[in-house]
Amino acid sequence: MSLYETPTEANPTRQDGPPVITHEFVVAANRLPVRADAEGQWHLSPGGLVSALSAVMADHDAVWIGWDGSMDGETEGAPPSRQGDMALRPIALTNKEFTDYYEGFANGTLWPLYHNGLLSTRFKRSWWSAYVSVNRRFAEEIIAAASPNGTVWIHDYHLQLVPAIVRKQRPDLRIGLFLHTPFPPSQLLMRLPWREEILEGLLAADLIGFQTPTDARNFLALAHRSDRAPETLFEDNTATIELDGRRMKVGSFPISIDVDRINQIANTPETTAAAANFRASLGDPAHLLLGVDRLDYTKGINARLKAFLELLREGTLEPESVAFVQVATPSRDDVRGYENTRAEIEQLVGEINGDYARLGRPVVHYLHQNLPFEELIPLYMAADVMVVTPFEDGMNLVAKEYVASRTDGTGVLVLSEFAGTAVELHDALLCNPFDIAGLKRLLLQAISMHPDEQSRRMDIMRRQVSNNTVYDWAKRFLDQLDTEPDRQSTTDGSARA
Ligand code: F6P
Repeated sequence: MSLYETPTEANPTRQDGPPVITHEFVVAANRLPVRADAEGQWHLSPGGLVSALSAVMADHDAVWIGWDGSMDGETEGAPPSRQGDMALRPIALTNKEFTDYYEGFANGTLWPLYHNGLLSTRFKRSWWSAYVSVNRRFAEEIIAAASPNGTVWIHDYHLQLVPAIVRKQRPDLRIGLFLHTPFPPSQLLMRLPWREEILEGLLAADLIGFQTPTDARNFLALAHRSDRAPETLFEDNTATIELDGRRMKVGSFPISIDVDRINQIANTPETTAAAANFRASLGDPAHLLLGVDRLDYTKGINARLKAFLELLREGTLEPESVAFVQVATPSRDDVRGYENTRAEIEQLVGEINGDYARLGRPVVHYLHQNLPFEELIPLYMAADVMVVTPFEDGMNLVAKEYVASRTDGTGVLVLSEFAGTAVELHDALLCNPFDIAGLKRLLLQAISMHPDEQSRRMDIMRRQVSNNTVYDWAKRFLDQLDTEPDRQSTTDGSARA
């Protein structure tokens, strides 16, 4: 059996269970957009992507297919079958699939490889097998859940084989895939023993969206080098590839945030008071620096703390006049690399506070916690300098959230050149996080920036962020997917190879 065929016997519920209700719009992502709280109540997950897609889905008869977070069927309770206007279809993972597909191939192989090989990548054949079988399961659900001539939007590196499996059985469907991570240079990706399968999987989509033009160009170069596609011109942020008598598009669609929601939260007296209280609770430092990240080795949290520590050591920064708040959301705890990153960060936090804190007055305030979105906005509003220093990042929405929260037009963003966001936010102080000396200079420049200069830069960045919200992003992607001409319509959704 070919990689892209789905054995029906692999999923007996498809044959024996109740008939599946079909939907005109299908979203598939590794995770469902809902989470259970401590009381076992399910809520929409926080985040711009979920809000934007929920809004898009509200206009359609839509279903979201994703992993419900359970392993071997052990959950706090099954997720609801609907959330608001959308239907939910959970995918269950076994413990072994969680280890081999999610922790293994997705986050042990693809994640480091797609982040420019920041960590040496492991190529394990058992991880690949699990990736294939979980991708097949997602595809089976899509094939069963999509109405004739429906639209399917697949998200991220976890599901790159899905377009080809779905197309094989449902050529009537319009298939889009958006990659949230970077796409690395072809020389690096060619190391992947299964690069051909991944390429074939992706090229079966009608539209593949990347975060930046560089990612899209890297993909086109790989497709060409691997003889999968002719050399293709990337112009006006899109390229059209003709292959196997079919046309598909590749484009750059920088993802964004829900600007209106941030404005709503930021413009309440409660949030303004929370920001002032927060600052006062830190002893009203003259300079407040902030970092907010998922705890990940790609985020460069260690680089910014090293730079900060050196500035204190040299006496360039006075510990009495400065505070650094670092929120590091727990993530992928058992994946190789994450434990060491956490240990390094916590060692640096300990060193800074050990040497420079006074009793009851730490210099670095470190939270290894998941803060609700509503609590992050006052932090953004209180911070003079936002430090975003990833070594490699698909986009980095925290940078955009900071800009959107600065409703008074002040504040300085120090931003890595290696974040996708840097393509749009040129008026940040752009840094190379591998260059600690340069990072120190930029931190000092940020701290001492004149308010007029802050406003000039922030103004431009705020306009940039407001002109491309997550709703604009979703609309641009779906409009482009809709204009793709080569759909093979059918009246009943049956295969027309
Ligand atoms: O950047 C890739 C991504 O999948 C994001 O879309 C998401 O916010 C993040 O990683 C979360 O990762 P995980 O599902 O592994 O916790």
